[in-house]
Amino acid sequence: MAHSQKPVIIYGGSFDPPHKGHMALAAAALRQLEPAALYFVPGWRTPFKDFQPVPFSRRCGMLAKALRGAGLAGRKGVSISSFEAGHRRVVYTFETIGHFQKKHPGAPVYFLMGSDCLAGFKQWRRWRGILKKASLLVGLRPGYSPGAAHGVPFVALRGRFPRAASSGLRGALFLGEKPSALAGPVLAEIERNGLYHDRELRYLKANLSSARLRHSLAVARLAMSLAPGLGLSPQKAALAGILHDCARELPGSGVAIARKGLAGVFPGRKSENMLYVEVISKAPVLLHAWAGAALARNLFGVKDREVLEAIALHATGAPGMGKLARLIYVCDLAAEGRGFKAAAWIRRLAGLDFPAALRAANYVKLSSAFSGGGWVHPLSVSLWNSLQEKKNG
Ligand SMILES: [Fe+2]
Ligand SMILES: [Fe+2]
Repeated sequence: MAHSQKPVIIYGGSFDPPHKGHMALAAAALRQLEPAALYFVPGWRTPFKDFQPVPFSRRCGMLAKALRGAGLAGRKGVSISSFEAGHRRVVYTFETIGHFQKKHPGAPVYFLMGSDCLAGFKQWRRWRGILKKASLLVGLRPGYSPGAAHGVPFVALRGRFPRAASSGLRGALFLGEKPSALAGPVLAEIERNGLYHDRELRYLKANLSSARLRHSLAVARLAMSLAPGLGLSPQKAALAGILHDCARELPGSGVAIARKGLAGVFPGRKSENMLYVEVISKAPVLLHAWAGAALARNLFGVKDREVLEAIALHATGAPGMGKLARLIYVCDLAAEGRGFKAAAWIRRLAGLDFPAALRAANYVKLSSAFSGGGWVHPLSVSLWNSLQEKKNG
């Protein structure tokens, strides 16, 4: 059926951050369909994300810069819509499409996406309803094969579009890199507002030696790479990795901060926390882990319990510690740049058999403590015992 009306294109997503791939897709859609309107619709929360996104207003700020950088700002019909944000909850695509359909009665509606979204499309809420109301307008990315669509009908954009996933870019930004898939003005906006841990990295650059900073980034990088295989969020892993040693070079090993801050880090476990601090005073260097958790919470506003636990327990380990804490414990020992022989093989082992890598990391830490002839923290010993029980049981 031929439509006399010009189409309307909706481009939904988290745009966290908006990159050149997004802009290339939008530019191609404008060329090919000459629509009456193209709406960028950043979500308030996207249903598939497990980590806090950058706040909506900041993402809109970056999106405006990205549009300007790509020469799309001010193009007739192109705008950023705050429809989804207005709801302050997860808004499903079928609702967004319904909204714009009402706004443009009778106009054919297209929903723009990269081909990587096709594979999961049938998991979207009311996907059949979406297809009744709108056509999917898809930019094919390298590696796309027809089977990936699982029979979902779509209109293909002419051309091939670079693969630039926001999640990978976030990872690079967490590590202080400046990915070329982001336009200069977007990077400047990120820096100005301290987004994607830029603020945390700046603090670390000012407060840690360059060797320690390199180590923290190496731990974050390794943790990010192992996280998906363990069912963990790479972003949480990166944050815990970057911050795990944030209090390592504080004067006095951060004793005061550890004491003051711990009650807030694990409320309800006050006496337990204090006990750890008392015991740790026999090996003050270990205090930086607890002080680091307190600092992460007080200075950077980290509220995530798993991240705080991972920072607090990275030096001693503890029986029953959570998955993320186990990951950071292993990565701290096995990250690139660690000078001892076992580090490299534990690193490899971690990707193949993580529980074995955890036992090995614990063994290496304990045996170096024993061979030094010093006091050994009881939590590290209990971790050892609990791992033997698991292995045998
Ligand atoms: Fe440490
Ligand atoms: Fe460390």
